[in-house]
Formats: sequence, structure tokens, C-alpha cells
Amino acid sequence: MFTYRTLMGANAPAWLDLRQEGARVAPDGFLVTLEEVLEMDTDRAQQVLDFGGLRGVFEGDRLVGFCGYRPQRLQRIRHRAELGPFYVTPSRQGSGAAQVMMQGVVDEARAGGVAQIELTVAPGNARAIAFYERQGFRKYGVRPDAIREGGVSEDELLYLLRVV
Ligand SMILES: CC(C)(COP(=O)(O)OP(=O)(O)OC[C@H]1O[C@@H](n2cnc3c(N)ncnc32)[C@H](O)[C@@H]1OP(=O)(O)O)[C@@H](O)C(=O)NCCC(=O)NCCS
Repeated sequence: MFTYRTLMGANAPAWLDLRQEGARVAPDGFLVTLEEVLEMDTDRAQQVLDFGGLRGVFEGDRLVGFCGYRPQRLQRIRHRAELGPFYVTPSRQGSGAAQVMMQGVVDEARAGGVAQIELTVAPGNARAIAFYERQGFRKYGVRPDAIREGGVSEDELLYLLRVV
């Protein structure tokens, strides 16, 4: 029912719509602000997607979620990859779409020789934390003063999943 695929330039309009939706309905799930999201046009979105760092989960042809997946390039840290943002449209939350997307990332990481997937999450994002922990991620630290919004400093939790 759900499929995991790398997003390409042709997915730009759907990705932009979903990214704008995410920045509106789940601002805690994104580092980027809605204002910054709204600055991106379709041409720029195509360029970003052509770079190859975004993955999507589709229901048929419809994009219902996306995530950033960035394996490190340097020789000594090539066994690590960064995951995030990670977003599923509200109507498909709780449906298994997020799990399909995470499994796609894990399979891709293993196939690419990645041993460790790393992400950050806001301490108050209980749903995301519950999801990541059920997927096997464990907390390994806290980044203090990670985000500043309106003069207010917030921490981030650091999570990782070993995939070897
Ligand atoms: C994070 C996200 C991808 C998870 O996908 P999902 O489909 O919602 O995840 P699931 O429903 O499979 O799992 C969520 C878990 O949180 C639980 N949950 C739901 N609401 C909750 C709440 N308010 N507090 C705590 N746990 C909650 C669910 O019961 C479920 O746990 P369980 O499987 O042990 O029962 C999705 O919620 C999302 O896109 N959120 C908005 C963006 C975001 O915050 N992304 C993470 C950025 S780091």
C-alpha cells in the first residue's frame, strides 16, 4: 500500500505542498520556519531534490510523507548518516506510512554500508519520540541551546539507531 522512493525533481510540487503543510501543522518537527519554507519556489525545490537527499513515502502516486537522508561523505565518518526532517501528513499518521518510510531508510542505510543513523528531536515532541523509540532508536544525549526562537533557547534530544 505504501512505497518508499527517492524524491526527484519531478516531485517538487508535491514535496513543496507537503513541506508547507508540515511547517504549518507541526512546526516543532522542523528546523526550517514557515517563512523560510515559503521562500522556496518550484525551481529551487527541483534543484534541492536533484541533489538526492530526500526520500518519500507514497500511497499509490500520492506523496504522503518525506524525510531527509544524508549519509556522511568523508571516509572516517561514512558509517554514519543523518535523518531528518521526518514527516507524514496528518491523515496518514498512525497508518504505518511512517514505519514504511523508516524501514526504507534502514534498508538503504544497510545496503550503503551505513552502521548508524542519527537524528534530533524536540524534547516536547512526544509522538515522534514514541515512534523513534519503537523503531529502536535510543537517546544518547542532549544538545543544549540547539534552537532559538523568539529569544527563547531550546534543547534537542540526540537519538541514534544502530543498523548493523
Ligand atoms: C513523527 C511521525 C513521523 C510519526 O509517525 P506516526 O504515523 O504518527 O507514528 P505512529 O502512529 O506509528 O507512532 C506514534 C506513537 O506515538 C504515540 N502517540 C500518539 N500521540 C501521542 C502523544 N500525544 N504523546 C505520546 N505518544 C503519542 C502513538 O500511540 C504511537 O505509539 P505506539 O505505536 O507505541 O502506540 C508523525 O507523527 C509526524 O509526521 N509528526 C509531525 C512531524 C514531526 O514531528 N516529525 C518528527 C521530527 S523530529
